[in-house]
Amino acid sequence: MEKLRVGILGGTGMVGQRFIQILENHPWFEVARIAASPRSAGKTYEEAVDGRWKLDEPVPENVKNIRIQDINDIHGVADDVDFILSAVNMSKDEIRAIEEAYAKTETPVVSNNSAHRWTPDVPMIIPEINPEHTDIIEYQKKRLGTTRGFIAVKPNCSIQAYTPALAAWKEYGPIEVIASTYQAISGAGKTFRDWPEMNGNVIPYISGEEEKSEQEPLKIFGHIEDGKIVKADSPKISCQCIRIPVLYGHTATVFVKFKENPSKEELVEKLVNFGGLPQQLGLPSAPKQFIQYCEEDDRPQVTKDVYYENGMGVSIGRLRRDSIYDWKFVGLAHNTMRGAAGGAVECAELLTAQKYIQKK
Ligand SMILES: NC(=O)c1ccc[n+]([C@@H]2O[C@H](COP(=O)([O-])OP(=O)(O)OC[C@H]3O[C@@H](n4cnc5c(N)ncnc54)[C@H](OP(=O)(O)O)[C@@H]3O)[C@@H](O)[C@H]2O)c1
Repeated sequence: MEKLRVGILGGTGMVGQRFIQILENHPWFEVARIAASPRSAGKTYEEAVDGRWKLDEPVPENVKNIRIQDINDIHGVADDVDFILSAVNMSKDEIRAIEEAYAKTETPVVSNNSAHRWTPDVPMIIPEINPEHTDIIEYQKKRLGTTRGFIAVKPNCSIQAYTPALAAWKEYGPIEVIASTYQAISGAGKTFRDWPEMNGNVIPYISGEEEKSEQEPLKIFGHIEDGKIVKADSPKISCQCIRIPVLYGHTATVFVKFKENPSKEELVEKLVNFGGLPQQLGLPSAPKQFIQYCEEDDRPQVTKDVYYENGMGVSIGRLRRDSIYDWKFVGLAHNTMRGAAGGAVECAELLTAQKYIQKK
């Protein structure tokens, strides 16, 4: 298959750099264009990330000499690519407008940004959980007046450590969830070099994160009705989000109340056997096993488990009865892989397999 050409919006940032890394040897996609702010436009990629390349591995050779374009040069970027991956730090209004402008050039946009997550005809996808939400794209295209251009988004990084478990346990009817997330600094686009105050520190506030953590799973568990995705009304989720001194990996401690009364064996069995369309289709970024259950009392641990399945799997452990809720557990997911760039690339792979993304 001839590779699809990808344009990356925000390719110089934390998530953008992960996109570049993941796509270096991708079997279906190749990086053709990179766009960022006017500050970076005109520089080669190597020049633009000089002194702020955040990953341990070196800048891939295939992108070093790509010249960065201004994100506002919409046709200059879009006309030469088959689809867009987006991860930019602009205001929500600006992101909403620019992603729609790209979609209207008949270029599909798969976005990490939160701006369109609550647009009713934009699917918010975890490919293992709600791949059928891509059906909404036909309605969105009618609204945009496009034949192939549309926007699809992936949800926030904070929900990835517990939403897959809730999905795996759907038949037991999770009705109330209390979660606390312990979130890595790369989730704010930062390393310890950029944010030395985080060394040995804990900050009990991440702007906007608790609302996302409580509401986004409900859109994922929702259904399509009259051209809109209607969010589920259950489970009720209450969440506190805390920033901790870890570079990669969001941990969540979670309490769940169920309608049914499942046993531990049943819950673990559902976790480890939970798979979906990406596994059936063999999508290149899909983990072979989406969720691992760690039996050891001191797992999942960031240093041991965050790269489970190349950072695309989710680790769950410490599942035990609770004295107030029914069950409690600890979850861990990689925030820039499963939670950001990797999740968006897997979403683009799903859309390619479903023929929503094709060669122009
Ligand atoms: N980090 C995560 O784990 C994570 C997880 C999920 C979602 N997200 C979301 O992904 C997006 C990017 O996050 P990030 O952590 O990668 O941010 P980041 O490291 O700050 O990168 C921001 C990118 O946006 C570009 N940019 C900034 N201001 C711009 C402007 N005025 N016009 C055009 N481009 C501009 C930057 O270009 P220059 O280099 O030229 O400044 C850079 O490429 C955000 O919406 C964030 O909420 C992040």
